[in-house]
Amino acid sequence: MSGMPRGRRRERGGGVSDFRTDGYAAIDWAANYLERVGELPVLAQVAPGDIRARLPARAPDDPEPFSAVLRDLDEILLPGVTHWQHPRYFAYFATSASEPGILAELLAATLNSIAILWRTAPAATELEGVVLDWTAELLGLPSGWHGHIEDSASTSTFAACVAAREATGRDLIVCAEHGHSSIEKAARMLGMRLRKVPVDDQFRLRADALGDLSDAAVVVATVGTTATTAVDPVPAIADACAASGTWLHVDAAYAGSAMVCPEYRWAFAGVDRADSLVVNPHKWLLTPMDCSLLWTSRREDFRRAFSVVPEYLRTPDAEDSLSLSEYGPALGRRFRALKLWAVLRCYGRSGLQRHIRSGISLAERFEAWVADADGWELCAPRTFSLVCFRLEGDDERNRRLLERVNASGELFMSHAVLNGRYVLRLAIGQVSTTEADVRRAWDVLVREAARL
Ligand SMILES: Cc1ncc(COP(=O)(O)O)c(C=O)c1O
Repeated sequence: MSGMPRGRRRERGGGVSDFRTDGYAAIDWAANYLERVGELPVLAQVAPGDIRARLPARAPDDPEPFSAVLRDLDEILLPGVTHWQHPRYFAYFATSASEPGILAELLAATLNSIAILWRTAPAATELEGVVLDWTAELLGLPSGWHGHIEDSASTSTFAACVAAREATGRDLIVCAEHGHSSIEKAARMLGMRLRKVPVDDQFRLRADALGDLSDAAVVVATVGTTATTAVDPVPAIADACAASGTWLHVDAAYAGSAMVCPEYRWAFAGVDRADSLVVNPHKWLLTPMDCSLLWTSRREDFRRAFSVVPEYLRTPDAEDSLSLSEYGPALGRRFRALKLWAVLRCYGRSGLQRHIRSGISLAERFEAWVADADGWELCAPRTFSLVCFRLEGDDERNRRLLERVNASGELFMSHAVLNGRYVLRLAIGQVSTTEADVRRAWDVLVREAARL
């Protein structure tokens, strides 16, 4: 870096900033935030419109210093932040943006590599292939699959449905009743039909109810459903897909990360037969939003579905086939691989395993407290780091309990509806969550239940 000017005041677009001074202040802000986030209310204690009302209606006419941005971040925006980085964030699927991932995001923004073509970003493109291969190996996937990064599992599943339609010439998507809403959204955006298959008593797709798949483009099986983290019977679904020439897409957006631990690989049985697979490191693998990994064993089908190369983007085919914009919806692709690379290197296999095992063992403890307590019931088998439970009594009682608990600011949880009943979900996934945090969550639940 010796050729780079140091400590220079830079004119950018009319604004003046000292990048180094402002940068240190921003890093200080980030470090202080991560140190004290556990003291803040988890769920933002604001009403709709509160934050907007405190912000000017127009952008400034003249440049302001970056310090003004940091000041308003503290004073205006922070009260309107729901803290996903909080150790008592237990809603939806709890996630962590780890420190190596955060720093790599800064570097990716600094480089601003835009991978429209291989030649516009050779390092970003090739590193993406490498981290996808590394992660495939860490999760026990077959070697040789083609992988790339999308922004979200919603986009990954959408892309898989596009490829499946192209490859099969059919227009029906099949998934379980508990398949994620992104599947229904993909069907709607694509004008494809959707058929939902009933689930068994453990909320898994009933393979015996798949029905005739001869007109199905794709079956989406889920490993780790959103409501309960149930694992669909992928081997039986793969048999049915193979018999009918149907594409098999596996949605392991949340639970896929757990496959870094060999003891959970049973949940990936049959996934080696999938045509495509999505896993989100931004859910449970310590990577900041957004980072969704999409693999396919049918690289050429993906390329056929997505390759549109106008003259201005044409390069020799040896380069074109490496351009990851040929395998998904976006042309301009950002350098997401950098943060995943940083996470994989700075945690290593052992660090990632520790993170997954810690979340699951905390969930086991919470599950045991619920099981032993009078007046509470467990509502679904616990497979990974999510516990579904409820207070005895009607749905309204549980709804009010959840509102009270979340309003306390001490923790944040979400809910699901199982067999028509409202249930509470406690999802563990934050790297900073300790047994004391989970214990506090249980104490707050018991306290608020007594006050209902
Ligand atoms: C199983 C499953 N699939 C897909 C999604 C959608 O993920 P994204 O927000 O990355 O689109 C979720 C979100 O929680 C999920 O739980």
